[in-house]
Amino acid sequence: METGPDSLFVTLLFLLHSSHSESEKFEVLGPTDPIVAVAGDDIILPCYLKPNISAEDMTVDWLNLDFKDGRVYRYQNRKIIREDQIPSYIGRTSLFKEELWRGNTSLKLTRVQGTDEGRYKCFIKALSWYDDFTIQVLVKAVGSKPVVSIEGHREGGMGLLCESEGWHPEPELAWLDSKGVHLSAGPPETHRDFKGFYRVKQHVIVQETNTNRFTCRVQQSRINEKMETEVHLPSELFDTTPWRISFIVLSCLGAITVIGLSLAIYCICIKKEDITEKLDELRKERGK
Ligand SMILES: *[C@@H]1O[C@H](CO)[C@@H](O)[C@H](O)[C@H]1NC(C)=O
Ligand SMILES: *[C@@H]1O[C@H](CO)[C@@H](O)[C@H](O)[C@H]1NC(C)=O
Repeated sequence: METGPDSLFVTLLFLLHSSHSESEKFEVLGPTDPIVAVAGDDIILPCYLKPNISAEDMTVDWLNLDFKDGRVYRYQNRKIIREDQIPSYIGRTSLFKEELWRGNTSLKLTRVQGTDEGRYKCFIKALSWYDDFTIQVLVKAVGSKPVVSIEGHREGGMGLLCESEGWHPEPELAWLDSKGVHLSAGPPETHRDFKGFYRVKQHVIVQETNTNRFTCRVQQSRINEKMETEVHLPSELFDTTPWRISFIVLSCLGAITVIGLSLAIYCICIKKEDITEKLDELRKERGK
């Protein structure tokens, strides 16, 4: 075995390298409680280095762990890297450039939408060290006041439809009578739009009651929000169409019969009068 200048050089390099790594060791920190974001708002996802060394020459990756592919944001070689950015984040994310020198790698996310909910990883890599921190983001959106439409006679009752949109997370829809008792309704239908907001709708068939008041309630208990719409149906609406038609037809028939009969009686009377008059005239002539 030889211990020449070569191995000394390697040892020196190794020593230099490890002292270098030593100086770059850091922790990545952020909030441990979830961040609750209101849809449409701008939010900051806090993340920073401890000790507060500069991150200007590091790689800063922000990932949404619910997306298999792509990134929320990447900063590398002092530039923003736009390749592989998840489409829904394009144009909505930024770092605070003026804060990087003191280890602040917080992310600004604008115009929060439903698809932003999830676990975000702030991953920071230096030449020979890396660490990360994961933050939970919850998105809250209160949807529209339910819209109730009358669909007409259905299976011996009145068909109603309730719709509400713009919710996050997914809300629950319920149909209630005037006493607040749940009515049995059709299957709930839920759709999620491209921004991740929920639209719900549900059909119900109601029978006539003494108040004819019905309520559609859409609520999200996790965010403690609800929206309601009450409808009052006039009781004439419950008259079923076949019954009305037969009523009208019968009335018309009745009227025609009455008119016909009176005409007949009138004619008979006139004729009777005619005949008696003529007979009278004849008798008078004979008597002359
Ligand atoms: C870095 O942290 C130290 C101690 O926590 C603090 O005194 C100093 O002001 C910080 N520097 C910057 C640039 O924030
Ligand atoms: C990082 O910068 C943002 C934007 O200026 C600020 O709101 C936040 O408090 C900073 N975080 C730390 C840890 O300094």
